Amino acid sequence: MLPDTFFMKTILITGGAGFIGSHLAEAILKVGGRVIVFDNFDYSRFIGPNDYNEFIRSQCSAQSYQCHCIKGDINDKSMIQEAISTWQPDIIVHLAAIADSVFALQFPEMCQQVNVCGVKNVLDACKQCSTLEKFVFVSSSYVYGDFLYDPVDELHPLRPQHIYGITKREGERLTEEFCERYGVAYTIVRPTAVYGFGSRENRVCSKMINDALTDRRIILYNGGNDRLDFTHIDDLINACMTLLTRDSVENEIVNISRGCVRYISELAEIVRMRIPDTHIVHATGDFKRPKRGELDISKMQRLLHFTPRIDLEEGIEMLINEIEHMRGTNDSLVTTMYRG
Ligand SMILES: NC(=O)c1ccc[n+]([C@@H]2O[C@H](COP(=O)([O-])OP(=O)(O)OC[C@H]3O[C@@H](n4cnc5c(N)ncnc54)[C@H](O)[C@@H]3O)[C@@H](O)[C@H]2O)c1
Repeated sequence: MLPDTFFMKTILITGGAGFIGSHLAEAILKVGGRVIVFDNFDYSRFIGPNDYNEFIRSQCSAQSYQCHCIKGDINDKSMIQEAISTWQPDIIVHLAAIADSVFALQFPEMCQQVNVCGVKNVLDACKQCSTLEKFVFVSSSYVYGDFLYDPVDELHPLRPQHIYGITKREGERLTEEFCERYGVAYTIVRPTAVYGFGSRENRVCSKMINDALTDRRIILYNGGNDRLDFTHIDDLINACMTLLTRDSVENEIVNISRGCVRYISELAEIVRMRIPDTHIVHATGDFKRPKRGELDISKMQRLLHFTPRIDLEEGIEMLINEIEHMRGTNDSLVTTMYRG
C-alpha cells in the first residue's frame, strides 16, 4: 500500500529510457506518480522521446499519464541543471550510466566520463533543487570485485578491479559525500544480473534466448561454470517501488537481487528445454569478469519487508514468451527496443 503523499511526488529518472529506467517509469506512472525522464537515448531501448512517450502512453493508457521526457546528456552540466531546476523533483533516481562492462573496457574514458563525472554533474545540479527529499544511486555488485565469500553482504570488502566496477564505486562515494554534506537522504542500491524484457541483446539471458530462437544454438563459454544471482526485472522494480516510499531506507546501502545463485550452464539448459532442437556449443571466452555469486539480501528483506519471488525458470519462461510475442508482431515501436 503506497502512502497518499507518493502520488504528489515528482520523480526524475536519469537513464529513464534504458532497460531498468523504463520499467521503473512505467511502474511509477501506473500508480499515479509523476515522472520526468532524462536520457540521451544513446543506449536506450527507444529511438527518442516521441517513440518513448508513445510506448509509455500505451502501457499506462487507463491511468492519468504524467510523464515528461527530456533528451539530454548528464555530461552537459547546463542541460541537467536546467532539467532539475525547472522540474524541482522530490526524488531523483540516478540510473544513467555506461552499464555494459565489455563496452566499458573498450571505452574506459567514456565510462569514467559518464559514470563518474556525470554523477557529479547530476549531484551538483541538485543544489538548484529545494524540493529534493531523496537521491537514489543505482550502483552494481561489480563494486565488490571478486566475491571473497558467498552470499556477499554489504560489508564485503570493496575491491573492484574492472573499470565498470571502479566507476560505480566512485559514483557511490560521490553520492555519500554530497548527500551527507547537503543533508539529502540517499539510498545506494547494488543490483546484480538483472534480466527481462527490454534488456540489451548482449546480456546473457537475452542473448541465449535470441540465439536459440534464431539459430537453434547457444554458445556456452568456459563450461558455463560462472555463477550469477539472476534477478528478474519485476522483482527489482517492486523492490525499488518499496524503497521509494519508505523512510527506513534512508542513508543506507542495500543489495537487491533474487538471493539465489545459479550456474550459467543451468540457464542454458532452461533455455534449451523450452526452445526445442537447440544445441549447446562449448567455447572458450577471453573476457575476464569478476568472480561473482549470490548476494545476501537479508538487509533488503529487513528494511523493505520485501522478498523477490521470480525463480530463473519462471523468469526465463516469461522472457521467452515476450520475445516470441515481439518477434511475431510487425510493430516497429516494439522492434526498436532491440536496436544495438
Ligand atoms: N542491468 C543490470 O543487470 C544491472 C545490474 C547492476 C546495476 N545496473 C545499473 O543500473 C543502471 C541501468 O542499467 P540498465 O541495464 O537499465 O542499462 P541501460 O544501458 O539499458 O540504461 C542506461 C540508460 O542511460 C542512458 N545514458 C547513458 N549515458 C547517458 C548520458 N551521458 N546522459 C544521459 N543518459 C545516458 C542510456 O541511453 C540508457 O537509456 C546502470 O547505472 C547500471 O550500472 C544494471
